Amino acid sequence: MHEDFFRYQAQTTPHPLAMEVSHAKGSYVYDKQGNSHLDFVAGVSVCSLGHCHPKVVKAIVEQTRKYMHVMVYGEFIQQPAVEFSKYLASLLPAKLETTYLVNSGTEAIEGAIKLARRFTGRSKLIAARNAYHGNTLGSLSLMSFEERKAPFRPLIPDISFLEFNSEDDLYKISMDTAAVILETIQGGAGFIMPKEGYLKKVKDRCSEVGALLILDEIQPGFGRTGSLFAFEHYQCIPDILVMGKGMASGLPVGGFTASYEIMNSLSDTPRLGHITTFGGNPVIAAAAMATLRELTNSNLIPETLEKEKHFRSRLKHPYIKEIRGKGLMLSLIMKNKDIANKLILSCAKKNLILFWLLFESKGVRITPPLTINTVEIDRGCDIIMQTLNELQQ
Ligand SMILES: Cc1ncc(COP(=O)(O)O)c(C=O)c1O
Repeated sequence: MHEDFFRYQAQTTPHPLAMEVSHAKGSYVYDKQGNSHLDFVAGVSVCSLGHCHPKVVKAIVEQTRKYMHVMVYGEFIQQPAVEFSKYLASLLPAKLETTYLVNSGTEAIEGAIKLARRFTGRSKLIAARNAYHGNTLGSLSLMSFEERKAPFRPLIPDISFLEFNSEDDLYKISMDTAAVILETIQGGAGFIMPKEGYLKKVKDRCSEVGALLILDEIQPGFGRTGSLFAFEHYQCIPDILVMGKGMASGLPVGGFTASYEIMNSLSDTPRLGHITTFGGNPVIAAAAMATLRELTNSNLIPETLEKEKHFRSRLKHPYIKEIRGKGLMLSLIMKNKDIANKLILSCAKKNLILFWLLFESKGVRITPPLTINTVEIDRGCDIIMQTLNELQQ
């Protein structure tokens, strides 16, 4: 299997972790050698309810028995997608009412870009430096790192950048801006939080000039930061909210939500302005509904803030310079890149799953399932602290 993985499955890096997975349950992933690995990453902020949560599995199995795919997105009325979209609307501010379901985060970003251009009749987009919005050509165009974009040019035109958290840059948002797109909390850049009042000022400037504000909540959304969506912490309601990752507890999904008026501009002139075969898939929508119900009917979301406190109290070491983030979207900022690498790789050998951040080489990701318990947090923190002490010797 190991050789076949490298030969027949396209690779993304020369050195993947290459654990051979047997099965996964709760906060643990089990390998083919019979080892259990405590998961502090949750498939990169995906498995919000842990691995194979019984309620999610039940919803998937029940829906699979009824029907799996009957039509492309948007033609037939399929209860799981309608129910999920309606329930989501009931939990969001009134203007965020109508949801377009797609298959991944980056596809949701593509949809949001098209929606903003279509609704405003403008083409210019403004993104933040060091942001990550996905890897398809449109999303990649929103990334500021030239070395990552150069081999894939030409990308989409009419994109400029502002500095995240810089009020001095707000003047760049003007009457010809279609949309400003920001991650509510910058993920790949190192879990950078918005400064108090910043997002609201961006929104106000957008409103002044008739531009839309798109917030990418693909990572912080669905409870990870102690509220259903992170924008709720910042008194700023986006015009378009983009989601994915943790939304269906492990099945591939994305979505973007806007007002009924904005969203429905995609359905006409041209007709079929945005289409997808698998978006809104009933099995995935059923998993998303089970996830959202469990998140909202339990204390899991507020508990993320207690769990954050616990992590912060346990992870104190001279090699940890800072812990960034909120709730269970945390990153350890290590003394240097070498220590970050060694920590991740040594912990992997001790059966604790940690992972890198995309652009912050000193960062170590801690984004466990929201269902993780105190005993598991302690067990993982013991491994981290022991490893750091060994590295210090
Ligand atoms: C903030 C953010 N936006 C967009 C994406 C892209 O999502 P996907 O990998 O599902 O296409 C990610 C994925 O890491 C992300 O973290």
